[in-house]
Amino acid sequence: MKTSAVIFDLDGVLTDTAEFHFIAWKAIANKLGVDFDIDDNEKLKGVDRENSLMYIIKKGGIAMEANQFNHLLAEKNEHYLTLINDINPSHLFDGVLTCFTTLKKANIKIGLASASKNAALVINKLGIESSFDFIGDAAAVAHSKPAPDIFLSVAEGLKVKPENCVGVEDAVAGISAIKSANMFAVGIGDAKVLTQAELVFPSMSEFDFGTVLAALLLMSST
Ligand code: G6P
Ligand code: MG
Repeated sequence: MKTSAVIFDLDGVLTDTAEFHFIAWKAIANKLGVDFDIDDNEKLKGVDRENSLMYIIKKGGIAMEANQFNHLLAEKNEHYLTLINDINPSHLFDGVLTCFTTLKKANIKIGLASASKNAALVINKLGIESSFDFIGDAAAVAHSKPAPDIFLSVAEGLKVKPENCVGVEDAVAGISAIKSANMFAVGIGDAKVLTQAELVFPSMSEFDFGTVLAALLLMSST
């Protein structure tokens, strides 16, 4: 395998928006009388807006008209937009800029594959737009994570074969998407949770591209 690109998820990998999604979904769930805890949130990481609300109403055994469903989607997003209003470059996780510099020096392309329709806004607030060779559009793909669509669309945008891409994700659904796209999966978080990942770093500050390359080499030799 010749690694030519690294494709990053956004929420929970480059910055802590995962926490804001949690707060906004918990408010909607509680309003509907549905309990919503960290375990629920873990399942919703990487899952798009519509399917996240579906999960909550299914958990509560609630029947809902399309109108109310759409209204709640808008309400959640408004709350989320308020929560991310003050995001700025200081909210980038430690290690992200160093990682980007390492990749650029090694001539590795950098892509973004987020399920969030707010991704472009967040990237802009973080001041890292120019670091990316291609930014995927969650609104333009047919199936959201755990389907591989967004990762495949970014590989196509980068003009790199999926098998030559490394995907980086903090969510179970995201790691599944990377695996279905036939890419090497790097998890950021808890290895006991991200069991499908080939390699897991506890945080971005521990992301080490040399270790990724060594793992890839080992894989191709076995
Ligand atoms: C990311 C987050 C999810 C979120 C999804 C959609 O994948 O991990 O928690 O639901 O994006 O985000 P959006 O900003 O479009 O509502
Ligand atoms: Mg994520």
